[in-house]
This record gives sequence, C-alpha cells and structure tokens, in this order.
Amino acid sequence: MLEVKDINLYYGAAQALRGVSINAQPGRVTCVLGRNGVGKTSLLRALVGQYPIASGSITFDGADVTSLRPYERARRGIGFVPQGREIFPLLTVEENLRTGFAPLKREDRSIPDDVFSLFPVLQSMLGRRGGDLSGGQQQQLAIGRALVMRPKLLLLDEPTEGIQPSIIKDIGRAISYLRNLGDIAIVLVEQYLDFACELGDTFAVMDRGAVKYSCDRAGLDQAEISRQMAL
Ligand SMILES: Nc1ncnc2c1ncn2[C@@H]1O[C@H](COP(=O)(O)OP(=O)(O)OP(=O)(O)O)[C@@H](O)[C@H]1O
Ligand SMILES: [Mg+2]
Repeated sequence: MLEVKDINLYYGAAQALRGVSINAQPGRVTCVLGRNGVGKTSLLRALVGQYPIASGSITFDGADVTSLRPYERARRGIGFVPQGREIFPLLTVEENLRTGFAPLKREDRSIPDDVFSLFPVLQSMLGRRGGDLSGGQQQQLAIGRALVMRPKLLLLDEPTEGIQPSIIKDIGRAISYLRNLGDIAIVLVEQYLDFACELGDTFAVMDRGAVKYSCDRAGLDQAEISRQMAL
C-alpha cells in the first residue's frame, strides 16, 4: 500500500537519503531504526511531502504521490506524528485535536472514540492548554491528533523519545491496537530497540542516509539489529 522506491533527498549539497526503498502494509508495523542523524526524519518528511525528493518514487494506495503537496497526501490518508510532537502550546487539548480535522470533509469532522479510549488522559484534559501538558501527555496528544483524520498510513517519528516508561507502555498498547485493526499501515521510526522489536513486523536499519540492513519478524535477530545500529 506504501511503496517507496529508491528515493534520494538533498539538503543543498548534502545528501540525506541515498536510494532508500521501504514499504508498509495494512495491519503491519514497519520499523525504521538507526542512530542520530542517519536520515530517519528526512525519510518521513519525504513521505509526507514536507521536503521534495530529487529522485525515486512514492506510491500510496495504488497512486503515485511523489509530487503531491502535503495536504493532498494528508487528504489521501497519510497521518504524521512528528518528532518533538509539535503540539500547539497555546491551544487547548481539544483545539489541538481539532487541528487534525483539516484534511477532512465537514461531515467527517468528529473526534473518533478510539482517541479517548486509547488515551483517557486526553478526555480529562480537554480544556487544558497543550503547552501545560507533560511531555508524555503531549506525545499522546500528538498521536491522538494524527488519528483524528482516520489515517490509512500512520507515520510515527520516535514516539518514545524522552518519555517515561509507563507512558511508553500506553503508546505501545495504542500502536498494537491500531495494528490489530488491520486496515492501517504503520511506519515506526525508533531508536528504542526493545520497543520496536515488540511491535515490528519488518525492520530496516539506516546508516548515513541508506538502508543497510533489513529483516522481517520471522528472521528477527535483535542482537544483529543492535550490532547494525552500533556500527
Ligand atoms: N533542514 C536541514 N538542512 C540541512 N541539513 C539537514 C536538515 N535536516 C536534517 N539535516 C541533516 O540531514 C541528516 C539527517 O537528518 P535527520 O533529521 O533525517 O536524522 P534522524 O535520523 O532523524 O536523526 P535523529 O535520530 O537525531 O532525529 C543529518 O546529517 C542532519 O544534520
Ligand atoms: Mg529524527
């Protein structure tokens, strides 16, 4: 459903992605792993259309979306939970969630019940300002906001970064619930290997802008992935 073929991305003269190919399927979690600065966020930016790629192709739901603008990709069902969460600090939790309505038709603009069953804390804090939430609560809000548009493809950029263990568990439960729904494809960018290995169906390790190792769940060797990430 998502097929990324041989993409290259440059920031000026610096090449951040080198011939990256990955894919994602409904009901499955594709993990993208790698140390700081290897190009994980650049890959997600390319997928949502925040930054243009120099070559290669991105096919989603049977259509070539390579040259579509970000809002057009969102309208087709690509949801994004950015690194660092990017909550609007002065908007309330409810207003932050409602920003997720943007790609939806007016009649579809409601917050799905799932958001509150996965993250009850959001329900109890609907009127609070986003900036007053803890980091973990903001991360839950960022995921909730992405779910508001009922994505067919959900991209998560290091959702466990700087988050305490109990909330990491909630986030893990949410991802596995969404995977088990069977109709959402998930791309999970992570450096927290134990977390990724619990959830992942396929794994790609990046280094210096390229995928240098990949495997699926059947062939999962966590020690080898860890070694590849450390090289
Ligand atoms: N807007 C930009 N302009 C120039 N260089 C950039 C830009 N954004 C990222 N880079 C560079 O591109 C490379 C890949 O960065 P990217 O943010 O994709 O890495 P990452 O794997 O997400 O890292 P992290 O785990 O720290 O988030 C890095 O060398 C980074 O310095
Ligand atoms: Mg990053």
